[in-house]
Amino acid sequence: MRIVVTGGSGVLGSKVVARVRELGHIAIPASRRWGVDLTTGQGLAAALTGSDAVVHCASSPVRPGRTDVEGTLQLLGALASMSPPAHLVHVSIVGCDANQLPYYRAKVRAEEAVLGSGLAATVVRGTQFHTLLASIARVATIGRTRLDLDFSAQPVDVAWYARELVDHALGTPPAGSVRARDVAGPERITLAEAAGAVREHESRPLGRGIRVPALGRTLRAFADGSNLPGPDARIGGVGFTEWLARGRVSAVS
Ligand SMILES: NC(=O)c1ccc[n+]([C@@H]2O[C@H](COP(=O)([O-])OP(=O)(O)OC[C@H]3O[C@@H](n4cnc5c(N)ncnc54)[C@H](OP(=O)(O)O)[C@@H]3O)[C@@H](O)[C@H]2O)c1
Repeated sequence: MRIVVTGGSGVLGSKVVARVRELGHIAIPASRRWGVDLTTGQGLAAALTGSDAVVHCASSPVRPGRTDVEGTLQLLGALASMSPPAHLVHVSIVGCDANQLPYYRAKVRAEEAVLGSGLAATVVRGTQFHTLLASIARVATIGRTRLDLDFSAQPVDVAWYARELVDHALGTPPAGSVRARDVAGPERITLAEAAGAVREHESRPLGRGIRVPALGRTLRAFADGSNLPGPDARIGGVGFTEWLARGRVSAVS
């Protein structure tokens, strides 16, 4: 099969490209690096020509309105003009609809556009990546002091998330637009535990923690566990602690 991977140069997209090729299929990475700009639609139709599926990983937390919302609309328009349209596997975030973070609101708008399109599309939400949690854990430490925010995560191994997405792309497309089961890793961990684990991994142990209250809607939504997977989520890949032990933390340095 021929599978276009938007954001094929990114953290997730590059793993999707590798997985498609590992399985002997053709992966077409598509992003500005390859002359495809979702915000304008430039290069999109050419990249999609002859494709069976699209795994849509392109995103920008800095310009989510332009990239995630308008970019997804551009992609939907291009898919609608294909005959037949390729199956869209759309990447989103667990709990994005329960948090007013501007990036998450854009993810919701993009999802709504996909689910309202009537095209063959599968929305697959994932939890925070291990790489992201490690980055947040680093930010949540000042010197030897840990900032104890009320935040837990059940992060996912990006390579496993990529496998799930590719399985969807290679499978039978749905008759319309659907949401698949959310995906998450196996280990639930607090930010304090994650910060301690990252520092221990780096042989720079932390001292005491300072409690930081969950002020504002965004932090309160995280404190309420809006980013955690529900009981019907698909769980797989390695947990955060094992991922760290395997030395992957260097990927976020
Ligand atoms: N990070 C997390 O913890 C997490 C958790 C769950 C779900 N997700 C979702 O997973 C997806 C991938 O995230 P990521 O962290 O892998 O992203 P990333 O590493 O930041 O990569 C973003 C990709 O988007 C491309 N891109 C940006 N603007 C573009 C444009 N105008 N046109 C075409 N391509 C564009 C970039 O390539 P160029 O610069 O070459 O254009 C890059 O390949 C996103 O939808 C994100 O919401 C992330």
